[in-house]
Amino acid sequence: MGNATVRLLAKAGCRTHVLDIQHTADGAFQSCDVRDYQQVRQCVQNVVEKEGRIDLLFFAAGVHLFADIEATSIDEFERVLSVNLKGPFYALKEVLPIMRKQRYGNVVLMGSDQVFIGKGCSTAYGMSKAALGQLTKSTAIDYAPHNVRINCICPGTIDTPMLTPSVERFHQTSGIPIEEIYDMLRKGQPIQRLGTPEEIGRAVMFLLSDDCPFMTGALLSADGGYTCQ
Ligand SMILES: NC(=O)c1ccc[n+]([C@@H]2O[C@H](COP(=O)([O-])OP(=O)(O)OC[C@H]3O[C@@H](n4cnc5c(N)ncnc54)[C@H](O)[C@@H]3O)[C@@H](O)[C@H]2O)c1
Repeated sequence: MGNATVRLLAKAGCRTHVLDIQHTADGAFQSCDVRDYQQVRQCVQNVVEKEGRIDLLFFAAGVHLFADIEATSIDEFERVLSVNLKGPFYALKEVLPIMRKQRYGNVVLMGSDQVFIGKGCSTAYGMSKAALGQLTKSTAIDYAPHNVRINCICPGTIDTPMLTPSVERFHQTSGIPIEEIYDMLRKGQPIQRLGTPEEIGRAVMFLLSDDCPFMTGALLSADGGYTCQ
């Protein structure tokens, strides 16, 4: 979804910088493990040195874990919270002062339908995404007077590489055939299909655009109706 959004941003004429632990997206790439504050800090400084400012931030990095609390090791717990929650905190800690000084900035954080609802076998992941909702709201309040908006996109199940290992783990624990699991996921969303990365990218582009100047602190669902049920 990060990659799809970077493509749309570039198409709209933005200069893009991609920070990721591996090189999977288009755009000027910097290797960055978002679990490491010093790496995030250095990468943000590199972008500012090059561009002189940062107008937009989309924080999409994340890891999924399909496990209930008993099946979640302490290492897995630390990893999920470090990538999904500490990562965005570190990025905001570095980027928001820059946006405040510019008196302009626009941030989108990557939530999930689990910002709103619980799911089985999703203890650590659900915790991380629900807390992201609070990170969105509290920073939105603090930075609204500085003309900086912070919103959160909350996708349902989207067809991305992240899905494969979780479906595999569910298959191993339940014995349900893989294609049947995908069918369950499709039918679980009222729209009866998985979302595409581009569909989420387009919603993120809306939040990042100047078309919604009155939106800040919003948790925007893009989930085929999943959380309406
Ligand atoms: N796919 C879904 O159904 C779905 C639904 C809701 C929310 N999300 C969220 O969307 C985001 C993007 O996921 P995706 O589905 O596009 O999967 P993805 O696996 O394609 O993207 C995740 C990206 O995060 C990067 N990443 C992982 N650990 C990192 C680290 N320590 N430092 C820097 N980068 C790291 C990966 O290299 C990858 O490029 C995640 O935050 C995920 O939780 C996904």
